[in-house]
Amino acid sequence: MTRKINIAIDGYSSCGKGTLAKALAKELDYIFIDSGSMYRAVTLFFIENKIDFESDVQVQKALQEISLNFVYEAERDRYEIYLNGLNVESEVRDLRVAQKVSHVAKISAVRRKLVEMQQEIGREKGVVMDGRDIGTVVFPNAELKIFMVASDDVRAERRYLEMLNAGKDVSFEEVKQNLKERDLIDSQRSDSPLMMTEDYRILDNTDLTPQEQFHLALNWAKFATEN
Ligand code: CDP
Repeated sequence: MTRKINIAIDGYSSCGKGTLAKALAKELDYIFIDSGSMYRAVTLFFIENKIDFESDVQVQKALQEISLNFVYEAERDRYEIYLNGLNVESEVRDLRVAQKVSHVAKISAVRRKLVEMQQEIGREKGVVMDGRDIGTVVFPNAELKIFMVASDDVRAERRYLEMLNAGKDVSFEEVKQNLKERDLIDSQRSDSPLMMTEDYRILDNTDLTPQEQFHLALNWAKFATEN
């Protein structure tokens, strides 16, 4: 029997991390966790409850009131995020959440809470998790770390189409601007910035189909499980 490993997939906004992570998890019979959806769910709670992000007291209190779960939805064959008992998988993808999430993700108290949950999920291995700090902070010992990149235009185009297909009312320019802003904040924040260390394998999927990137990464995963 091959051993179970953890796979960390990090990279800039909308470069296909989720698509790859999902496909790998399915093939390997692992759990796929989209860590970004957790930051998005906390942000949704902060927006709806008008929490002042700058107030430590309000943030601490809000964090105590937040309960997050991933629940398997058989119909769509995936785990979806629940915030205080409600499925918010679709709502957390709204532009209003995307426009605030990087500001919330800068807050150390938020990161501490979510990283702890993520590490607990990965304790038994067999997890593919995507995000910004998975290989650096959450699973520093992950047996496979992938850093994904793609050109700015390709990323904006993909995310725009994804949001249109999900029935969201957005313009291409808004989407592109949001990705740019998040990339900047995520890579410049002081707590757990997005960064590539030398133990990552780089995957540039600008000119790759989902199928091609999947086969490339699957070979890396097989190599990592056998070595
Ligand atoms: O899907 P996309 O790549 O656009 O973003 P996401 O993975 O849903 O993450 C949304 C935001 O959450 C990011 O822009 C980061 O600000 C934050 N995030 C983070 O700080 N750390 C993670 N491990 C995952 C997401």
